[in-house]
Amino acid sequence: MVSRVIPVDPFDLVLFGATGDLARRKILPSLFHRFQIGQIDAQSRIIGTSRSQLDRAGFQDLVASAIREFGQAGETGEDDIATFVQLLDYVPVDAKGDAGWSALKSLLRPDVVRAFYLSVGPGLFPAIASRLSSCEIATADSRVVLEKPFGHDLASAQALNSALRAYFKESQIYRIDHYLGKETVQNLMALRFANSLFEPLWNSTHVDHVQITVAEKIGVEGRGEYYDRSGAMRDMVQNHLMQLLCLTAMEPPSRFTPNAVRDEKVKVIEALEPVSLDNIARGQYRASPGGAKQDSYLDHAGNPTSTTESFVAMKVEVANWRWAGTPFYLRTGKCLRARESEIAVYFRDPPHNIFAGATGVHGNVLVIRLQPDEGITLRTTIKDPGPGGMRLTSANLDMTFADSLPEAGRPQDAYERLIMDVIRGNQTLFMRGDEVEAAWAWADPIIASWEQSGDLAPQAYDPGSSGPDDSLLLMHRDHRRWRGIGT
Ligand code: BG6
Repeated sequence: MVSRVIPVDPFDLVLFGATGDLARRKILPSLFHRFQIGQIDAQSRIIGTSRSQLDRAGFQDLVASAIREFGQAGETGEDDIATFVQLLDYVPVDAKGDAGWSALKSLLRPDVVRAFYLSVGPGLFPAIASRLSSCEIATADSRVVLEKPFGHDLASAQALNSALRAYFKESQIYRIDHYLGKETVQNLMALRFANSLFEPLWNSTHVDHVQITVAEKIGVEGRGEYYDRSGAMRDMVQNHLMQLLCLTAMEPPSRFTPNAVRDEKVKVIEALEPVSLDNIARGQYRASPGGAKQDSYLDHAGNPTSTTESFVAMKVEVANWRWAGTPFYLRTGKCLRARESEIAVYFRDPPHNIFAGATGVHGNVLVIRLQPDEGITLRTTIKDPGPGGMRLTSANLDMTFADSLPEAGRPQDAYERLIMDVIRGNQTLFMRGDEVEAAWAWADPIIASWEQSGDLAPQAYDPGSSGPDDSLLLMHRDHRRWRGIGT
């Protein structure tokens, strides 16, 4: 099956924070790719804003070099770049002051979709939302897109939500969690809800436990200041891992519509049990033995006494009819052995082994690989081939999407899909306000518990390892093992 490009209506997209890192790395190259395949036409406009005193030509140069640097290899033809930058305009705007707003307003057209993408810190969301409204720049149909982090805790997320709702309806607010834009994350829904094979087994009667891993090889280089105030729990678990957990555990929605899907996700978050400290392992990477100096977390964070975790693992219980008795183990960290994200569903062992004396009769494991090598693997038990009696062994049924569906073409970045959904007005892959608040309501007491414990220091782990020993113990205690990272 060949992918189909359905063009979106012409739009005016205003990008706040247009000269920032995320805009250059992800947002602008994503828009370029969708222009290149014909989904965005030449009638659309992308208007960059920030405090920088650039003119249109300066912004066009900046975007062209961002596409050359961060666009996907082989897709960055100079002719296409030259045509794409004709869509661009730029106006310096002071988010907290008066400068630039009327110039911005004069660039917008009355008859096209307007989207305002706030690729700025959450501290600026209320000020920008207020100006968009008071200067009558946003219309009743405009969309506002918000980057994470959406708050630092429940109170700040609630404050942001109410500040935004003073100017926008919930149906206009698009809170990004870019994990939801990843192809394989959407595939998780297809796998569960478009196949009849898995659903009868998708419960605690048949599933022993689930492991969700988002491992990163890189450290926090360059982002130390932000990260040191967040840690793995706020940076990854409250949002990305939570979304993976929700999509794995949720009930089938009645239809694939934004509120039906998000209702089911909220129910999962609300069913999460509090997590006690003995079910959590926190770690912080140290300098590599014999490696370059200044490569520990403390060096990267620029804070020699930091107790922020760069790794966290935990055992989570979803207290509902479907999942009671099946733990979900979550794990994420920086500076680990490999960049590898996956969801592994461990099915229970067969109830009875008819192959007397044969070992190796184990439960099946379904692994959904999010990155790299997106695909699905099912570990099965088969007969060990050849003579020697009825011996058993494990073998994988393996599907790598790139091999099975080569016509799907180059992998698309999560942001491409999400930005097109904003223009189309489809909120299915965006977090609703109550969903974000529910996730903070679950995460806050966990963070508070270690802050109040008096034992804040995370356990040190080596860069390139699988995390701290406590994480292994968390599993061993339950007579289980983590899947290897990068093996
Ligand atoms: C971001 C986090 O949201 O996700 C980063 O702030 C993290 O710390 C990144 O590195 C991971 O995204 P991906 O798509 O590379 O897995």
